[in-house]
Amino acid sequence: MKSIVILISGQGSNMQALLEADLPCRVAAVISNRADAPGLEIAKQHGIATEVVAHRDHLDRESFDTTLAHCIDRYQPDLIVLAGFMRILTAQFVARYQGKLINIHPSLLPAYSGLDTHARALRDGVKIHGCTVHFVTGDLDRGPIIIQAAVPVLMNDTTATLAARVLHQEHRIYQQAIRWFCHGYLSLTADGRVLLKRMEQPGCALITPGLE
Ligand code: GRF
Repeated sequence: MKSIVILISGQGSNMQALLEADLPCRVAAVISNRADAPGLEIAKQHGIATEVVAHRDHLDRESFDTTLAHCIDRYQPDLIVLAGFMRILTAQFVARYQGKLINIHPSLLPAYSGLDTHARALRDGVKIHGCTVHFVTGDLDRGPIIIQAAVPVLMNDTTATLAARVLHQEHRIYQQAIRWFCHGYLSLTADGRVLLKRMEQPGCALITPGLE
């Protein structure tokens, strides 16, 4: 059975959804860069080993990433899952785990890379927004895309209502990506392409506002 390590920085709702998803893998540990991350308590309640590698204890990104890598390597995971992990990782760290490091981002990448995705989407008046699971490469928020979910943006949406609608879909697509990986269907090729050995299920068209 494959094993995964989940990295968090805060609430950990994606981590919680994964712990409750009965995934075909073992969650070896949950690691946070913040000792006060509420998600750590949730992990402990699920009997998962937890670790804190506090970025504040390190002089620079390189030393933080080195300590983080040593902590991860103690668990020898097949996959490292960034779930609301808010640190930018160095190119060396990403290269070390290329092909076994994934992230979830709250937008339809490449649109709205970076922060405050929902507020920016509302400000731009887009009608369709969503979330993306991707392999992490040295290019921030631009790694090869694995799966995406799109949601409608409604006229009376606030950042909070839109974020909640996207987060619900995050919880659905992240576990799908991890299931594929754990079953050996999902990989990143040497030339940086996503390889999914699965019969592609046609998604659905999202038209918003809906046709009358
Ligand atoms: C989510 O929107 C996720 O996409 C982003 O951080 C937010 C919080 O995630 N990376 P979580 O609730 O801590 O999993």
